[in-house]
Amino acid sequence: MSGILDGKRILITGVLMESSIAFHAAKVAQEQGAEVILTAFPRPTLTERIAKKLPKPAKVIELDVTSTEHLDRLADLVRDELGSLDGVVHSIGFAPQDALGGNFLNTPFESVSTAMHVSAFSLKSLTMACLPLMSEGGSVVGLTFDAQFAWPQYDWMGPAKAALEATSRYLARDLGKQSIRCNLISAGPIGSMAAKSIPGFGELAEVWNTRSPLAWDMADPEPAGRGIVALLSDFFPKTTGEIVHVDGGVHMMGA
Ligand SMILES: NC(=O)c1ccc[n+]([C@@H]2O[C@H](COP(=O)([O-])OP(=O)(O)OC[C@H]3O[C@@H](n4cnc5c(N)ncnc54)[C@H](O)[C@@H]3O)[C@@H](O)[C@H]2O)c1
Repeated sequence: MSGILDGKRILITGVLMESSIAFHAAKVAQEQGAEVILTAFPRPTLTERIAKKLPKPAKVIELDVTSTEHLDRLADLVRDELGSLDGVVHSIGFAPQDALGGNFLNTPFESVSTAMHVSAFSLKSLTMACLPLMSEGGSVVGLTFDAQFAWPQYDWMGPAKAALEATSRYLARDLGKQSIRCNLISAGPIGSMAAKSIPGFGELAEVWNTRSPLAWDMADPEPAGRGIVALLSDFFPKTTGEIVHVDGGVHMMGA
């Protein structure tokens, strides 16, 4: 049976647990025919353990997206394994505890700076690190949590996601000439490690129980994974700088 990623080579960041959105992107990508390479943070051994649960084997490369050394060596390591890339998935987010959970007015700039570096600037760093491998064009896909709104508890991750969304549009602008598309999935709440590290995220997620037109399951990251794979495929050939909501429809509800 043919898949929508047949013959494509995809680098996927952010596989930490089975609850990671990236794990489901990798699973669906392999099911759809892609060859997948994973990057790992903080330890390759953790990601290697989870990668064993994928339908097919996937090589794991260590990558702290704030490390210039790791970014500089990434292209060579990926080239040795796959030769080139057709797609890159940025599934990375982090903010220090004092930037989350209701401390917005008191968060020091050092913590804001870390959140911005890891969660937003890294989309540019990762894309540029992979650029030498995408000479035939490609698709870059990242993950946001709708940054049009001021959410409770989400605090400085909100401005970090707004920066990510803008960064994606600027990358789309500057890389279009090289046939590289850059798009985001705006996902509804998923009970991953990143979400659990936000105090009170469960209460925020309850909004989906009452407002989502489509039934929403926080324990199911697969819809987001399928959205990522769709954007990696050739079925969005002229779409770039776009944000596709995989949120059950909450983003468009008035009340
Ligand atoms: N869980 C949600 O409700 C939700 C909703 C919308 C968007 N998102 C976004 O989806 C993406 C993936 O998150 P997730 O929910 O799957 O959680 P997750 O905890 O499984 O994934 C977050 C990933 O970020 C990686 N990471 C953190 N710091 C890093 C660094 N310095 N270098 C490289 N990688 C680093 C972690 O290793 C981890 O794999 C994030 O961008 C997150 O903000 C999540």
